[in-house]
Amino acid sequence: MDGVTDLSDDLPPGLGSTDAATAAAQPSVAPLARQAGDVLDVAAIRRDFPILDKEINGKRLVFLDSAASAQKPRAVVEAMAAFAETDYANIHRGVYALAERATGRYEAARAAVARFIGAPSADEVIFTKNATEGLNLVAQSWGRANLGPGDAVVLTQMEHHSHIVPWFQLQAEKGFEIRWIPVTPDGHLDLSELDRLLDGARLVALTAMSNVLGTLTPVRQIADAAHAAGALVSVDACQFVPHLPTDVVAMGADFAAFSGHKMVGPTGIGVLWAHAALLDAMPPFLGGGGMILTVDLEGFTPDAAPAKFEAGTPPIIEAIGLHAAIDYLDGLGMENVRAHEVSLTAYALRALTERVGDRLTIHGPSEPAARGGVLSLAVDDVHPHDLAQVMDEHAVCVRPGHHCAKPLMKVLGCGATARASFYVYNDTDDVDALAEALADAADFFAS
Ligand SMILES: Cc1ncc(COP(=O)(O)O)c(C=O)c1O
Repeated sequence: MDGVTDLSDDLPPGLGSTDAATAAAQPSVAPLARQAGDVLDVAAIRRDFPILDKEINGKRLVFLDSAASAQKPRAVVEAMAAFAETDYANIHRGVYALAERATGRYEAARAAVARFIGAPSADEVIFTKNATEGLNLVAQSWGRANLGPGDAVVLTQMEHHSHIVPWFQLQAEKGFEIRWIPVTPDGHLDLSELDRLLDGARLVALTAMSNVLGTLTPVRQIADAAHAAGALVSVDACQFVPHLPTDVVAMGADFAAFSGHKMVGPTGIGVLWAHAALLDAMPPFLGGGGMILTVDLEGFTPDAAPAKFEAGTPPIIEAIGLHAAIDYLDGLGMENVRAHEVSLTAYALRALTERVGDRLTIHGPSEPAARGGVLSLAVDDVHPHDLAQVMDEHAVCVRPGHHCAKPLMKVLGCGATARASFYVYNDTDDVDALAEALADAADFFAS
């Protein structure tokens, strides 16, 4: 670890360590060559991900699209296959031993999620199909039961469509007001008018980390202000839980949603966490098997949470995969994951700027400690799709587009960006390949 920047104090306000929050100073930038890859043994990690061995068009695969979906380690794939081969049955219904064993494994996954995010009880963890479903659940259950004309919901301009559209859908029926927390030119939330925005608000919906800018938002500060104003806080933790130590209670969240597939787990499973008292008071979102206490010819009585919100056969094999993903990340240590990504991001901010020069724009905060490993890139007025296509010839996978954040694109004054995003298996070689590919694309379109 000699010569490595000490990043242990880099957690942002209200996230992970509250003491560290106050000390969220900018890290000094260590010499490039020694900066990244030292906190985690990336070479060993890469061996856990078979896909990273693959070559594309004879070139080493450089996977930089983990913000969209992360690659899967062998441990996750094997855990799911082993469960399907030896322990699989539908859960919560059978009385035979195999069904009880499957139920036990599913509930153990729930307990692992609760521990991983600091939830006081596993009963507060609802398995959904993805983060989008969890965020819709908040709107369609809590929102539908609680909002009406005269109320306000406050969103940030950096929300993903999953945390915007459900509120527009409900607004069309319920007639409440939607207000927006603006984004500053340097990619932070502008909280100067927060008190005014919160006046009469019932809920604040905010992302803990922007999937476009990488910005880590001051969730705790906003939650404290929201609670003082009588509003609840729904946190989109999709880009946060996979990358930083998470404590939903310390964050000040009332609801928090994220997806398994962005944290080296499988697709088809997400999580909604909410305080028990809120879940108790909320009506079910979907009706069907598994969510009732009783049904008769007159009606039904819902079960308690979490069953109340898990109608139908849930993602059983996927829960086993998510449990294995959590074990995998726990094995690395989420503090190490965060430190690695801060280090790699610092390296990338410098390497890309040095390599591509003035023609390059990197959207979002310039301080690595204020952001996650997501870099939205622009080169002059070259279309991001064109950039990404040339970079693909280098086997460098970046994502062009609006990243499901069209309101933010409008604020940024562009229709799209080319986004590179890092995870535990990326190293400085990947960043160097990114810089090379981006410089090549920039030259190609300059000529
Ligand atoms: C910030 C953010 N929120 C929500 C989502 C939606 O996640 P999912 O598609 O897994 O439901 C994403 C996915 O890209 C995201 O980045």
